[in-house]
Parts: sequence; structure tokens; C-alpha cells
Amino acid sequence: MTPPTPAAAQAALRAHRDAIASRHLRDLFGADPGRFERFQAQAGPLFLDFSKQRIVDETLALLVDHARARGMEAAIRALFAGERVNHTERRAAFHMALRNRSTRAMPIDGVDVMPDVRRVLASMREFAEGVRAGRITGATGAAFRAVVNIGIGGSDLGPLMVTEALRPYRGTGPEVRFVSNVDDAHLAETLRGLDAATTLFVVSSKTFTTQETMANAQSARAWLASALGDSAVPGHFAAVSTNLAATSAFGVAPARVFEFWDWVGGRYSLWSAIGLPIALAVGMDHFEALLAGASALDEHFRTAPLERNVPVLMGLLGDWNRNFLGFDTHAVLPYDQLLHRLPAYLQQLDMESNGKSVTRRGAPVDGQTGPILWGEPGTNGQHAFFQLLHQGTTIVPADFIVAAEGHYGLGQHHELLMANCLAQTQAMAFGKTVDEAETEMRAGGLDATEARRLAPYRAFPGNRPTTTIVLPKLTPESLGSLVAAYEHKVYVQAVLWDLNPFDQWGVELGKQLANRLLPRFDPEAPMDDLDGSTAGLLRHIRILRSSGWGDGRN
Ligand code: F6P
Repeated sequence: MTPPTPAAAQAALRAHRDAIASRHLRDLFGADPGRFERFQAQAGPLFLDFSKQRIVDETLALLVDHARARGMEAAIRALFAGERVNHTERRAAFHMALRNRSTRAMPIDGVDVMPDVRRVLASMREFAEGVRAGRITGATGAAFRAVVNIGIGGSDLGPLMVTEALRPYRGTGPEVRFVSNVDDAHLAETLRGLDAATTLFVVSSKTFTTQETMANAQSARAWLASALGDSAVPGHFAAVSTNLAATSAFGVAPARVFEFWDWVGGRYSLWSAIGLPIALAVGMDHFEALLAGASALDEHFRTAPLERNVPVLMGLLGDWNRNFLGFDTHAVLPYDQLLHRLPAYLQQLDMESNGKSVTRRGAPVDGQTGPILWGEPGTNGQHAFFQLLHQGTTIVPADFIVAAEGHYGLGQHHELLMANCLAQTQAMAFGKTVDEAETEMRAGGLDATEARRLAPYRAFPGNRPTTTIVLPKLTPESLGSLVAAYEHKVYVQAVLWDLNPFDQWGVELGKQLANRLLPRFDPEAPMDDLDGSTAGLLRHIRILRSSGWGDGRN
């Protein structure tokens, strides 16, 4: 069947939205006991329950039509064919090659990238295992006990998130710390207590020009040289980059440089040598298991029919909530302390990819693009912002993520965690009516007047859509699948919204302006070309700095 045009598919969805808008999730479940069986999907270890989304069968069918109208199948093929889907930078987005575990070639313009990928993986293994076993040592011959990764954005968030998530797999490896912020507090506090003789720095930067990373790397080098002398520096630095000229200019020994390529986007790079801190923290076998989990999800995304394709469903449901039901934000709530950096990681992945308003053809977009993504681990969030999720005027669709089994086996902690996770999705979906609240209070012994007075405050509107993602256990494999599912969801939404998710021009202006402002902290620097607010702020800062407020001189 020929798919509808994108406009027709969207019009059909809007009409359908109007027809079902008044139906509450309570009614949908009441009328249809089979929702859970029908509104679920599985990809490897990921089980997705989306029965608590505000949809019926027709919604799903129309959403899949919408995907077809946008050429979803062809777009998925183009991604896996190594086409230059990042058209503004004329690059492929081929992160799937980094985790390809099969013998299949992964060509870009007819050249298979797999030999390069395997070569770098082999050198990562040699280095990571050498450091972990104490065979590769610092300049004094002492084994490395700490690794400090210096990077920002995609060169920080991915490895940091995964290193935290895989803490139970660390074994006897070195402690791995991360420095990203140009604020010297970050570097200084990260280095506190470290011994230069047993510290290895990994400078991670795709471009090796990023201001924050270069400033931190220079200061780290000075810290090391002041303790052990300049000659010790090469023995304590490794680099991960696509810019080999810059790593060599910085003074990193060629054997300690781990390469990746321009077809790896920064926020899609944790699978490349940018994952070196992960391998140092948990060992190369676990890093490769992470790759395998992601690779299995790639196969699912590439081959599963749209109706059962987990990233496609995640993307379509997100679009339904964003563009048809009108919800502006999306919360990701891992009921897993080990995933505490997942929301921050997903913020870059999603918002740097799809926070855009110009289509692939250079025209203004029609409709809404990337939602504001945010989140925190449960159960902590329950005691902070969940009040708004349950009773606020803004509806926040949310993903709840939980593993059936924990790692630590302490008492009943894991059951408590899971019970809270499921309970919150129930409360969000079904709520509690004013009558129910009143009856409950009466049953608890409250007098009728007081119960009636309090009932409106103690009622919950419900009808707040959620998806629950259940993993058997948070392992390297299941984490790889989970992260790859979110990556592909972002691609699916980019296709629906006709965006290029692989560039990020929107971060450039701030960088440019910061460079122009840097010399203006000099008290003699002119300011007459600046806007009134910026000039005023600079003047105020100059006065504060010269008056000695910060250092107790005043
Ligand atoms: O902030 C923009 C950005 O280019 C991100 O896309 C990227 O992940 C980050 O900066 C770091 O870049 P690099 O790895 O080149 O230092």
C-alpha cells in the first residue's frame, strides 16, 4: 500500500487525537483488559510496556503510517548503508560500525571501516588491560591507581554514565574520575588526594581544540610536571581524538593516542576509543560486552518491522506526546542508582541532536521538535519533583526504567525500589478521584466534613502517560542495548521532524562570543562596542575583582 503524504498522515493523527482526547487511561484500561499484551515490545533484554500511553490501536496504526509517510524504512537503510546522513557536514553517522560484532563489512563510500575499528579496539585492549594489570606503569614504575578523563560533552557524558552504571564490574582496576568543567574547581577537586606517580590522564576530545578540555589538559600537565618533572609527562598521558596532529603537538606519545573518525558524532562516540575510560574501569571484556548489547539492538532496529521496532515505537510515542497531545517535556526516571547519570547523558544525546528548528532542506520546521528532556533516579525524585508530576498543571510524559534483579542483594531494597517504580506509573496513569479520596479518608476514621474539605487536595487527576522499560539486570549487554535504543529513537524522531540530528551548530555562537569576551576582563580593555547589560556585568565583575571581595581583602 502506498503510504499517505506526511501532511495527510498528520491530519489523520490530529483528527484521531480530537476523537480520543477525552478518554482517560482509567477508561481505556477498563474497556480493554488486553492493553498490556498488545502495547508492549521486546528487543533483546529490553521489555517495553507502553500500555500506559494515551493511545488505542488506531493511534498506533496511524503513527506507523506517519513513520512510513516520512520514509522511515528508507531512512533506516540510509543510516546503516553509511550514507552521509549528516548532510550539513557531509558525513556519515556510522556509530553502529564501532559496535558491529559480525563479520559484515561496514563501508562508507565503498571503503570498509571495520579494519580500522578492529585495529583501535585491539590497541585499546592492550593498553587498558596493561594498565589494569600494572604492566603499563607511570614514569616512576608505580602502577596506575587513578585515571582522570579530561573531556566534555560527548567526550565525557557517555563514558562517565557507563562507568558509573557498571560499577559492579570494576574488579581491581584503577579508580576512574572525570573532569569536564572549565571551572578550575572541577580539576582541583578531582585531583585532590591523587598521587601524580600513580595517576594517568586520558585527554578525550574529538577535535582536540575544545577550549574547556584544552585548558584542563594544560593544567593537568602542569600539575603532573610540577610533581614529577617534564620528562614524566608522556608516561602519564594518553589521548583519544580524530585530530592526530593536535595530540602530537600536545606531546602525547603516538603509541598512547587512540584514534576515531569524523563519521563518529561526539554524542554517539562512547562506543569508540572515547570509551577508553570505561575499558580502564571495568576491563575490555566488559566494554566489548557493552558493544555487543548495542550491536544486537542495531540489528533489531535495522530489521524489525516498524510496528514492533522498539526505537521506532519510542520515537513515535514521543512524537504523539509532543506534537499531538502538546506535552513539552519528557522525563527519564531510572529506578536504578547506577544509572544516575543517564538523564544527563540523554540530555546531550536528545537535545543536542533534535533541539533544532530548520529542516533538512533549510526551511523552518512545521510543528515541535525535541522536547526538554530531564530526570533523576527514583526513588529520590519522588521526594522532590514528583509532586508536580502527579498534581501539577503541566503533564510530563515519562520513561520509567527498572531492572528485575539488582547487584547487591541487600535485604529487601530491590523489591522496595521496584514496588515504588511500578506504583508511580500506576498513580500517574490512574490517579485518584475526589470521591475515592473522600471515601478513603472516611474509611480511615476522618469525620465527613474534614474528609470533604481535604478531598480536592488529596485527589490525583491521573491520565499522565508513561512507558516502563524493564531489563532483566543492568549488565554491560543490557546497558548497551538500552543506550542504543535511545540513540535510534532520536534518529527516528529526526526523520519524523525532517531534521539532521548529527550536527550542532547551535552551540557555536556562545563559544564565539566567549572568545571575544575573554580579553575584556583586563581592566584596561574597551567595552564601548558591547551591549549595555554585558558591559554593565563586566564593569561590576571588574570592580568586585579589584576590590578584593573574593579573597577577604574587603
Ligand atoms: O558542545 C559541542 C560539542 O561539539 C559536542 O557536540 C561535543 O560532544 C563536545 O562539544 C566536545 O567536543 P570534543 O570532543 O571535540 O572536545
